[in-house]
Amino acid sequence: TKPAVLVARAVFPEVIAKLEQHFIVDHNQGDEAWSREQLLARLQGKAGAFTTGAERIDADLLKACPDLRIVANMAVGYNNFDVKAMTAAKVLATNTPDVLTDTTADFGFALVMATARRMAESERYLRAGKWTRWSYDMFAGSDIHGSTLGILGMGRIGQGIARRGAHGFGMKAIYHNRSRLDPATEAACKATYVSKEQLLRESDHLILVLPYSPESHHAIGAAEIAQMKPTATLVNIARGGIVDDAALAKALRDKRIAAAGLDVYEGEPKVHPDLLTVPNVVLTPHIASATVPTRKAMANLAADNLVGFLVHGKPLTPLNPEVLGG
Ligand code: GLV
Ligand code: GLV
Repeated sequence: TKPAVLVARAVFPEVIAKLEQHFIVDHNQGDEAWSREQLLARLQGKAGAFTTGAERIDADLLKACPDLRIVANMAVGYNNFDVKAMTAAKVLATNTPDVLTDTTADFGFALVMATARRMAESERYLRAGKWTRWSYDMFAGSDIHGSTLGILGMGRIGQGIARRGAHGFGMKAIYHNRSRLDPATEAACKATYVSKEQLLRESDHLILVLPYSPESHHAIGAAEIAQMKPTATLVNIARGGIVDDAALAKALRDKRIAAAGLDVYEGEPKVHPDLLTVPNVVLTPHIASATVPTRKAMANLAADNLVGFLVHGKPLTPLNPEVLGG
């Protein structure tokens, strides 16, 4: 008989159909948010789960779901997984790297530009009927071309953003990362390694692209923002919690930095109320990977990980391959 899998949120019907060729599929047709208890109940008897980055997979859940063998996240980030606990329980974890790199780098760059050039703020002004005359400094922002682009977190997406800035817009790209890139990769993205302090001090536009972990919690707070140029912009497309949102809102209100662009939030989909009232911030609802082809590629890769592992014993993008063992 076919193994049973759970799909925790609504997803492309063609992806459900593909899964149904191999599995008995229980899926969240109404796309209502399941409570933890509902998720646990639905997971009973399931060998695999398809998650979207919000469902917390930890030791307690694994203990309550002894049939589970794989959880496939439809996201590159996997801070919703306790990978150690998954490995200990011999449950395979997979994510969706590579397929979203360029789409997400495009969006990161768009958010840097929208922030520097005050696109959201000026659009709100126009829509409110306030545009009645020209003025010499109306929505004057800062330049992208020729400026210094700072990147915190230099994985695949960070490298894509560096290449766009350096090759496309003549920016000087600097980065900080836990480990330095090899010289060939640095040369390909024309990016220079600097300390975190130097990154904060020298960036005209700083973008965050590092994974969330307890170590990166509030990597940017009041003390870090205080080291930035007053004309600088800050963009977060990584994860909520990397920025101290309350401290950022205060810094924006006090004009400690010029502007910010955020795609991710602490406690999303809730947004810190102070961020909703400061004018100099562009706010988007966690959509950096949201193009139709890329979301399809992510959903298909998550599904292919379930099929690859449960049917053929070979997942495509395992995070804890040691589970596959000898
Ligand atoms: C989205 O945030 C992802 O991790 O893919
Ligand atoms: C994610 O793919 C990253 O490495 O930035």
